[in-house]
Amino acid sequence: MEVVILPGTKQIGKLAADAIESLLRGKPDAVLGLATGSSPLPIYDELAARHESDGLDFSQAHAFALDEYVGLPPGHPESYREVIRREFTSRVNILPENVHSPDGAAADLPAACQSYEDLIQALGGVDLQILGVGTDGHIGFNEPGSSFASRTRIKSLIEQTRRDNARFFNSMAEVPHHVVTQGLGTILEARHVLLVATGAQKAQAVRDFVEGPVAAICAASVLQFHPHATVLLDEAAASSLK
Ligand code: F6R
Repeated sequence: MEVVILPGTKQIGKLAADAIESLLRGKPDAVLGLATGSSPLPIYDELAARHESDGLDFSQAHAFALDEYVGLPPGHPESYREVIRREFTSRVNILPENVHSPDGAAADLPAACQSYEDLIQALGGVDLQILGVGTDGHIGFNEPGSSFASRTRIKSLIEQTRRDNARFFNSMAEVPHHVVTQGLGTILEARHVLLVATGAQKAQAVRDFVEGPVAAICAASVLQFHPHATVLLDEAAASSLK
């Protein structure tokens, strides 16, 4: 695991965008793994700027979202399909039909989860997966106790995660209890994972997954086993590292 501590989010966005740009220049039909939440926003801003100013080309790329809420009506502004579209994919020239999200509204959710896994495989797997980390150490929505072998499936959010995400909704009551998320086994198959954590509220989770034991209680710790994991931190998120 390679840990890089940078002064701020701007620098994090640039370094992550460098990795994505170099991937796309060598492999224009690369498969990107996208996260939602606040952490990846500087990356999306930087990629959108490079598309605008230098023509960074996403026309052959594919993208897979990590996760989706269950129970939000289609088109809800906080559904992750909408968030990814608004924050990133509508700002570059990736084809909308090449942007894939788990279907949190499917009548048969287990079948939809399997189809999602199948599609990732059919497109050759994820080349570069962007990740954030929850204050409880989750990646995707693999909450504490998730199996390291898990695949895309339905999960319940713990209260801490629902509280953390309540800022995106009008009230805590509106935050869904269930999600569909890629599993830890799915995420581990990405050829490069790039995790971003910023702010003092992430310092404990960062310490746990970077320096603590690999344990299911801290899902992100499984990245210690990944052959190509890059962790980009600002100084506040890195402040509890030894
Ligand atoms: C989002 C996701 C989550 C977030 C995590 C951190 O698709 O999978 O794991 O990355 O909850 O969220 P932020 O970045 O908002 O602190």
